[in-house]
Amino acid sequence: MISKDMSEHLGRQIGAELYSEHLYNAMAAWAMAQDLPGLSHWMRLQAEEEHIHAMKLFHYILERDGEVVLPQIEAPETSWSNVQELLSSVAEHEKIITGLIYGLIDLAHQERDHSTTEFLQWYIAEQVEEEATANALIAKCKMLSEMPGGYYLLDQDLAGRQFSPELAAYLPNGAMFGKY
Ligand code: FEO
Repeated sequence: MISKDMSEHLGRQIGAELYSEHLYNAMAAWAMAQDLPGLSHWMRLQAEEEHIHAMKLFHYILERDGEVVLPQIEAPETSWSNVQELLSSVAEHEKIITGLIYGLIDLAHQERDHSTTEFLQWYIAEQVEEEATANALIAKCKMLSEMPGGYYLLDQDLAGRQFSPELAAYLPNGAMFGKY
């Protein structure tokens, strides 16, 4: 069984992931208002992935006989000066999330909770990918913003993002994306 302290910390992480979902949905709405449907689509998928990150924690706590305590979710920012500022906010936010995951792993080590340490490795790999993706997007945005029609090209590129079936496969008990 998972400790009460660990359950509470993982519950707070569910809150952080749900806040990420909120934030990225707010970014999707902002992008749509700027006539950037590709960026909006990209942020919507990002928000859906965050929901899966949250639910994966939710299922894990229950699987270990812990209590799921869900925290209050704050309202996210709703506007950004431009696309580059928005993408920089994504990168900064993901760094904060990585720090939170590291903190959870530190706690798991202190408690000698090897199962939770193992479980959290998935999040470590996911954070490496998310930070790298955000940084690559910032670089692409910088490059394209100096070209005429650059934002249009960036938007078209982002419109091609597809939801990762591998992520959905991580949900336990055959739960499907969009069905929980
Ligand atoms: Fe779930 Fe983007 O961290």
